[in-house]
This record gives sequence, C-alpha cells and structure tokens, in this order.
Amino acid sequence: MLVLGIESSCDETGAAIVKDGRYVLANVVASQIEIHERYGGVVPEVASRQQLAAVLPVIETALQQARCSWEDISAVAATYGPGLAGSLLVGLTVGKTLALAHDLPFLGVNHLEAHIYANWLRQASDADPQAGAGAEETACPYLPGDPLFPLVCLIVSGAHSELVLIRDHADYLLLGRTRDDAAGEAFDKVARILGLGYPGGPAIQRAARLAEEELRQQRSPLRNPYHLPRAWLRGTYDFSFSGLKTAMLHLAEGLVADQQPARPLPSGGRQISRYTTMGSEAARRGQVHVGLLAASFQEAIVDVLAVKTRLAAQEYHVRQVLLAGGVAANVALRARLEEELRPLGIQLQYPPIEFCTDNAAMVAAAAFFHLLHGERHDLDLDVEPGLSLPFRQE
Ligand code: KG4
Ligand code: ZN
Repeated sequence: MLVLGIESSCDETGAAIVKDGRYVLANVVASQIEIHERYGGVVPEVASRQQLAAVLPVIETALQQARCSWEDISAVAATYGPGLAGSLLVGLTVGKTLALAHDLPFLGVNHLEAHIYANWLRQASDADPQAGAGAEETACPYLPGDPLFPLVCLIVSGAHSELVLIRDHADYLLLGRTRDDAAGEAFDKVARILGLGYPGGPAIQRAARLAEEELRQQRSPLRNPYHLPRAWLRGTYDFSFSGLKTAMLHLAEGLVADQQPARPLPSGGRQISRYTTMGSEAARRGQVHVGLLAASFQEAIVDVLAVKTRLAAQEYHVRQVLLAGGVAANVALRARLEEELRPLGIQLQYPPIEFCTDNAAMVAAAAFFHLLHGERHDLDLDVEPGLSLPFRQE
C-alpha cells in the first residue's frame, strides 16, 4: 500500500511516498530555517505563507522521485495537529483536496504519533523483497526490524517532551511530560543565550563537540569548569528544563560586566536580543567558554532524559526503548541512553537523522497502521493546534 504523506505543522513542508508504512520511496522536505534564523525562531505568519508556496512543488517532487503516478497511491495522509494553526491548515487542506480530486481515502495524522512511527521507517533500497513500488501489497502489522512492544518511547521535540508506555499500536499510556519548556525549546533558547544561532539543537551539539575535543587535546586533562543543576523531580517521570535555562542565563549574564540593552532590528539585519549577544560577548572578553557551557548544558539535559527513560524501561519491563522527535537526532542523548540501557539488555532504537526532525515519511508511516484497520477521516476534519496523543486512562 503506497501512502502519500504531507507534513506542515511548523516550518518544514514535507511530502513523502511510503510503502506499507515502512519503505520510503521518496521523502522531500523544504526547510525554512534560513528564513527564520534571522529572527532567532519561527515566525508563524511567515511560516504559513512559506508553506503555501512550497506545498505543491514538494508533492510533485515526491511523486517524481518515487516514480509513481496518482493511480499507484492508495491513500493521502496529512498532519492535523499539534502545531501552528496557519501552517497545519495548508497541508491539511491540500491533502483533503487531493484525496477528493483523486477519489482516495484520507487520514489526518497526529504529529506526535508520526514522530513515534519514524522508528518503523527504512529506505526502500534496503534489500527486502517487499520494498519497491511494484511489489505485491502487504498488510502486515509486524515485519522483522519493526519495534517490539511493549516499549517506552521518549518523545523530545521543539514543543513536546513526553515519556510514553506503548503496549501495542495506538495504545499509549502517559508516564511523564515536561512541566515547563520542551527539551528542544530549551536547546533553542540556550543557543540563543549563547549566541549560537537557530535551530539550537544542532548548534549546541556542534559547539559542545568542538569544546570537548579541545579539552581532550589539552596536555593536562582539564574538566569542564561549568556544572549546571538538574531538576530530578524524584518519584515522577516528569521533566523540568526552565531552571536549567535560567541557570545558563545567570551564568552568561554574570560573566558580562556591562549588559547590553535590547537593540532594535537593524535594517535588513539579524534581530539581536540582549541574550543573543551575551554569550559571544562574554566569550570575546575571555570570561566564558561558550563551547564548554554548551557541553555542560547538553550533558545536564541528556542526563535527566536518559536516567528517567531508563527508570521507566525498568519499571515497565519493556522489550525496547524508542527515541522520537527532533532532539532524538542528538548524538550525546543516543550514546548516553544506550549506556544506561546496555546493562539491562534493553535495546535502544532511534530513526535515522533525516526522519528525526519534521518530515512527511513519518506521517505516511503512522497513517498506514490506522488505514490497516479501515480508519478514515471525513473531509470536514479541522486542524487541532493543541492536539495531544490519545492517552488511555489508567
Ligand atoms: O521534531 P522537530 O523537528 O519539530 C517539532 O515537532 O518541534 O524538533 C525540532 C527541535 C528543535 O528544537 C531543534 O533544536 C531540536 O529539535 N534538534 C536537536 C537536534 N536537532 C534538532 N536538539 C538537540 N540535538 C540535535 N542534534
Ligand atoms: Zn515535530
């Protein structure tokens, strides 16, 4: 079954063709990073306008790359929440319209569920008799390489941080969530404080890696001089990252003698907030090593995420742990969690980097498992910017 997936929940416009919820025949993403980077974050009105410009070319390209026509497609799926209302509206409306025009079933997909199902994806080129557009239809709920239930999934994206027990397809029990900032949001805000740019996650990862390499090359082994607090919130699987962000702010602020007032947007230039320049200003004066501060922040956030996930995996005797969402691309998080789980013999699975951040292949994958059960949405389905996973009550 070939599903055309469409993703437009934030600042990425994606279209993908996925076979049987797993084999990616095409995955096209138009990113707006260059546009939003000058503002230090996503501007919703700009994002939706860009979505509108990108969505049809992206779908066309996906069909071309997969070398298929509309006759080969079995269903259309598009994200309907959570996300930015204006952005969601573009992909959802286009998806419903194309389904109607080509007389195909339509399914709205929960963006968080899509992130989870990125773990089912693999390249169609992976040697497998079932891959390839021409192969016979398979409607199999389990294939070798698929994640094994019961599992614990840590969803960490720009807007969400949730620890979820998944006992079967579509069976979600919420174990814990962030009480304030999402993990990705913390990466983005701290990168801004340190003047490292947007999006913050990859920038912090890069700065931390360089600083740690530098530290290793020192003749006398030095330790990172910065130690940041961790909010353990013992007895719960909840997270809190705003204290960490504030600690970073104070550290960077305290190290700059004369703080800069907020500056107006220079004509045609980058918007510079007081915080954007603080870290780099302090670094210039030799008062703070931005890279080591980034490394220390990354270590603190990864520490809490990895330990809490391991505790949940132990308590619920799961077979696997999954990572999902943009922060799942973080190399330090992957390595640290692997280290936590190894003694327990629990396997960690995470998607390839291109399927961690927003993409439409994961939307098509999640849709497949619903379509298998005959689920469809009517064409009056509306966007739900505040949608959460459909958690069971226990
Ligand atoms: O899942 P995603 O693409 O969008 C949302 O659904 O929010 O996640 C984006 C978030 C951003 O906050 C970005 O900074 C973070 O994922 N991110 C990372 C890395 N790559 C992306 N965070 C840490 N390390 C990374 N390598
Ligand atoms: Zn996302």
